[in-house]
Amino acid sequence: MTADFRHFYQKNWAERTAIVAQQAHLTPAEQALFKQYYLPQHHEIIENYLTDYPLPMGLAVNLVVDGVDHIVPMVTEEPSVIAAASNGAKIVKRAGGFTTVLNQREMIGQIVLEQLSDPAATAAVIEAHAAALLKVADAAHPSLKKRGGGARRLRTRVLGQGYLSIDLFVDVQAAMGANMLNSMLEAVAKSIGVMTKQDALLSILSNYATASLVKAICDIPVGLLQAGRYAGKLVAQKIASASTVAQLDPYRATTHNKGIMNGIDAVAIASGNDWRALESGAHAYAVKDGQYRGMSTWTSDGRMLHGELELPLPVGIVGGSIKINELAQLNQRILGIQTAGDLERIMVAIGLAQNLAALRALVTTGIQQGHMHLQLKSLAMAAGATPEELPVILQRLELASQQDLATTQQLIAELRQTKEETDD
Ligand code: MEV
Repeated sequence: MTADFRHFYQKNWAERTAIVAQQAHLTPAEQALFKQYYLPQHHEIIENYLTDYPLPMGLAVNLVVDGVDHIVPMVTEEPSVIAAASNGAKIVKRAGGFTTVLNQREMIGQIVLEQLSDPAATAAVIEAHAAALLKVADAAHPSLKKRGGGARRLRTRVLGQGYLSIDLFVDVQAAMGANMLNSMLEAVAKSIGVMTKQDALLSILSNYATASLVKAICDIPVGLLQAGRYAGKLVAQKIASASTVAQLDPYRATTHNKGIMNGIDAVAIASGNDWRALESGAHAYAVKDGQYRGMSTWTSDGRMLHGELELPLPVGIVGGSIKINELAQLNQRILGIQTAGDLERIMVAIGLAQNLAALRALVTTGIQQGHMHLQLKSLAMAAGATPEELPVILQRLELASQQDLATTQQLIAELRQTKEETDD
């Protein structure tokens, strides 16, 4: 029988769990998982809250950014991400670390008008009143101005087909600023409505944060890149070639960029930031000239390998979801950051470190060799191996002709059987 989901959001937690248990035929042991990861305060965050969903959090080490050593908390379910980030960072540390460039940190929001017979004329009226509109924006969030931030400028863009975008640039200080910006935009949209007799189609922050760009750079003596039988100079050359391929081919660029975002997203989650916002902005920036390309570039002159990664990274260190997440706050302390800009610099550097480790593995031994041990470990855990059984199971798995769940379960069963016999 289908459970009754009417007014589901009004049900209390016990009712909700009972309904889902009925619908999905859950055993008491399965239902106990809801309780195990349950945090009452999370009812305030999302609707229809059931339980938390745990993800592993670990630390990447060796990351030197602008001369400062950082330990980097990362949240990820992918076994090789932290190992790769630490590995890439270690190579760059030996070369003196990453340098970063952050010139500006403003968020952009847009108000879109539609069905304009003369969008350029409307734009001219709005621009003529820019100073007054910036005041309206600031009045919608006075505390921001007190903290040294506030609305900075206004830009208009004629989009075609009668649409006009009015872009508001705001210094959001330590926050990511989505809520602040949205209130400011709605206030400005109202004033524009009075001024132009046009109702806005929509007013919302843009995740294409081109006024919050941050760049990481590294220069690595090729000797530091040597991998097994591959000389450092050759590895550098191959990394540069892999970078060229990512510039030429969207199929490769997508995977190249996924590797970069492996690192950035993991830090975004650990620091309480909205990783979807970063993802959408980063990928839009990767297609800024009309073709989707690798976000990073690597070049080599035979002596040094030069790497660069520039991305929009509109992150915050204060704000709603960070305030209620104790771990996010703790992670900021572990990161040793004071400003949102500091976090951006670390994130872009971790992205480049991640990318370096992936490319170095790909162009030499291949990605599987490095990943294998970690993947086998995940497999053994998924098959139910206990921490005590892990070392033996891993040894046996490495020698096994098939490395799948069924084989692993078989190996665990055999190990337990032998143990029982020896215990008897
Ligand atoms: C896997 O999560 C990431 C890589 O595929 C990145 C890359 O190919 O550059 C290894």
